[in-house]
Amino acid sequence: MAPSIAPSDNVVLSSTEKDASLADRNTFATRVAGKGADPEKKALFASVTKRIDYTPKIGTELHGIKLAELTDQQAEELAAFIAERGVVFFRDQEGLDRKEHVKLGQRWGPLHVHPLVPHDQESPELIVLDSRLSPPGSYNTNNSWHSDVSFEPYPSSFSILKFEEIPEAGGDTIWSNGYQLYDNLSQPLKTLLEGLTATHTSDRFREFQAKTGRKAFGKLNDSVHPVVRTNPITGWKSVFTNSVFTREINGLSPTESKWILEYLNDLTSKRLDYQVRFSWKKDSVAIWDNRSTFHTGVPDFQPYFRKGVRVTVSGEAPYYDAENSGTQAEAFKKTADAIIAKQEKEAAEKSNVDPALQLA
Ligand SMILES: [Fe+2]
Repeated sequence: MAPSIAPSDNVVLSSTEKDASLADRNTFATRVAGKGADPEKKALFASVTKRIDYTPKIGTELHGIKLAELTDQQAEELAAFIAERGVVFFRDQEGLDRKEHVKLGQRWGPLHVHPLVPHDQESPELIVLDSRLSPPGSYNTNNSWHSDVSFEPYPSSFSILKFEEIPEAGGDTIWSNGYQLYDNLSQPLKTLLEGLTATHTSDRFREFQAKTGRKAFGKLNDSVHPVVRTNPITGWKSVFTNSVFTREINGLSPTESKWILEYLNDLTSKRLDYQVRFSWKKDSVAIWDNRSTFHTGVPDFQPYFRKGVRVTVSGEAPYYDAENSGTQAEAFKKTADAIIAKQEKEAAEKSNVDPALQLA
């Protein structure tokens, strides 16, 4: 496919008087979608024809699911599965048109209207990530890791991204695991971070506005969130700071805050064992948990273009529950131990088969 330079249709780039306060109406989820879902997710997996875990702790591709046709129970179990796996991938979702895309997000909570990113003319909750409108050349992959809209007082639970147009090659997205980032810190550092909060800001967007003069759809917010948060679905702890929106850790000296934020971002961006990478095809969809993962696009695809559409589900105010939180590491060990025990039992049973039968 030759690169096209046709302008994107049906996109609203910046606010007019009519929609200048669209994003000010953003609100929070009144229930935690996925909480209390069947731990075995039987309804969801009744439709799954193939499961591919990209890595042990983050990223799974599911086949056999049509996202536009999920039952209520399947949608609930999928939310829980995404919180456990961090990000889940789907192929060939042509049935998830823009209308269905919005409807899917609404099953899990109120949809966020982005204060600055261009959106679909019909649905302001559907943002349009079009490289013609925002060329990717200006960032590098070290300072672009983020959790979507963490500057909001009620940041996102889930994002649902679909690509309508993909470049000839490149334009992958990489996610990094916030649970693992927490789990592998030393106990003294964990203890320090568990007592701290950080300020997340819209400064990047303010800089962008100053450069381009683009008018926002509402207020550009700043918010204070715990540095370690509990995922309300899994109950697992994760680090919740990122290189795009987190300006400082409160209560530390500016130098200490900078060092720690840089250290956490270094681990996010450099630890390959925390990461999963996804190559998009047309009609691929990724849904991820913004509470416990970070992500970045890979800006390697120019001069080609790509166009994706995303809805961002608003979650709750982030919290840290010292008493009742677990970790992914503990849960993973339990699952892995059970799998290994089962494999060993099966191997032992096989070796106990009557030797006479094995002659056949
Ligand atoms: Fe993002």
